[in-house]
This record gives sequence, structure tokens and C-alpha cells, in this order.
Amino acid sequence: MAFTHICMTSDIAVGEGLRIEHEEPVALFNVDGTFLAVQDKCTHGDWSLAEGYVDGDMVECTLHMAKFCLRTGKVCAPPATQPLKLYPVRIEGNNVLVDLSAGAVAA
Ligand code: FES
Repeated sequence: MAFTHICMTSDIAVGEGLRIEHEEPVALFNVDGTFLAVQDKCTHGDWSLAEGYVDGDMVECTLHMAKFCLRTGKVCAPPATQPLKLYPVRIEGNNVLVDLSAGAVAA
């Protein structure tokens, strides 16, 4: 695993997301103090989720309102049907690190 420093924990407010520009962009969210990372591309279309509406541990795509669980990547509301890839997140002190190489769909 190759964790990359992304930001400080204080850089993302609770309920907010941050787009990480990468070969495959990643969206990093602060869900009640837990940082979770998923692919920053809705599986229904080519649309960023980083600006989506966060409700608990779900994010809603702003284009057609599909909802995904940020903990499991699973679809919670259509029209999307495919889950999101998840990326491992590590907190070291106040630093947020993400393994950008390890995106995977949860089992
Ligand atoms: S692009 Fe996200 S729901 Fe259609």
C-alpha cells in the first residue's frame, strides 16, 4: 500500500467532501469525524460526487440523485446500479492519508 498525504483533518468539515485529482479521481468525505474515500465518479454517469449532498454516511449525486453508502460503496437509491470503489484511509495525528492505488469494490 502507498498512502499519500492529502490534507489535514481540519481541512474538510463534517458533511463535506474534497476531490482528489488523480488518474482516477477520488472523493474524500468527513462523515461525523470519520474520513472515507470513494471513486469521484458516479457509476451512473461521469459526474463528481465530491460536491454531492452528504446525509449521514450516504452521498447523493447532484446530477440524477443516486445515493451511495460511503462506508460500503453500495447503491442506496437509483438510478445508479453499480457500487463505488472504496479507497483505504489512514489518519496519522491530524494528517489524512489515502491509498490512491488501492481502489476496490467492497465484497
Ligand atoms: S450521474 Fe449520478 S445519478 Fe446520474
